[in-house]
Amino acid sequence: MNNQLSPDTLSAESIKEGLVTSCFGQKVLYLPSTHSTNVEAKKRAQAGIAEGTLVITDNQTHGRGRFDRTWWSSPGKDLLFSLIFRPLLKASQTFRLTLISSLAVAEAIRQETGLDALIKWPNDIYIKGKKVSGILSESGMQGDHLEYMIVGIGINVNSTPSKHPAIEERATSISMELGENFPRITLLTVILALIESYYRGIQKGDFHALKKRWDTLSLINHKKVMVQTRGCRHEGTAESVDEDGFLVLLDHTGTKRRIVSGDVSLSLL
Ligand code: BTN
Repeated sequence: MNNQLSPDTLSAESIKEGLVTSCFGQKVLYLPSTHSTNVEAKKRAQAGIAEGTLVITDNQTHGRGRFDRTWWSSPGKDLLFSLIFRPLLKASQTFRLTLISSLAVAEAIRQETGLDALIKWPNDIYIKGKKVSGILSESGMQGDHLEYMIVGIGINVNSTPSKHPAIEERATSISMELGENFPRITLLTVILALIESYYRGIQKGDFHALKKRWDTLSLINHKKVMVQTRGCRHEGTAESVDEDGFLVLLDHTGTKRRIVSGDVSLSLL
């Protein structure tokens, strides 16, 4: 890929130029630098901004990951964005949005780069055993009604996480795997198109077909894993992910356990 011919400058105009969606990314809020796109998106969602709005930045000063971790990124090199959904789903079904988002990221990386991107439950994307992308979903409730959902996606595109002491051995980027830079907007455009199409799919009742595809890209299904939850450690074979997004783990006694959230360790894979 020749980056001189395809400049990689993020702006509302450059993003909207190649869009093939009718909702996701039609409204773009580009911020050169921000605290966290999830925090910004949440503020906008609370103020009533439309579904499909994309909040995107070149630099996060307080990028957040799951379990209050920090999301490391390199200014101007990665994809850091949040999408606002206003889904007609029950609160128990919000896992469906993270499922379609992780599927879209994995499929877009596979289609556009040829890299073997796989999904590690609940919604991390891995290439050759190293993390390339993470997703942080946050919902806004009004009583028992789901008012909005923010899906925040971080993808290491052209950074070199191997140089970052906190994550060096566990993370990779698309450019590290390809050996050359990759245009961020190309990847973003495909992700938005896939998310929109999968979202329409779940609205039409096609969730099971999407989950089937997600299962085929799962890094952990049928493998021995260790899952660290808050305060507990579980070992066993990852059987599947059920309809509600729980990981079904079969332990050595043959007991099935449904795990709502946790960190799956790759060390036993
Ligand atoms: C994780 O793997 O723990 C989830 C990481 C999610 C990072 C993205 S980057 C864009 C958005 N804004 C944030 O502060 N976090 C998410």
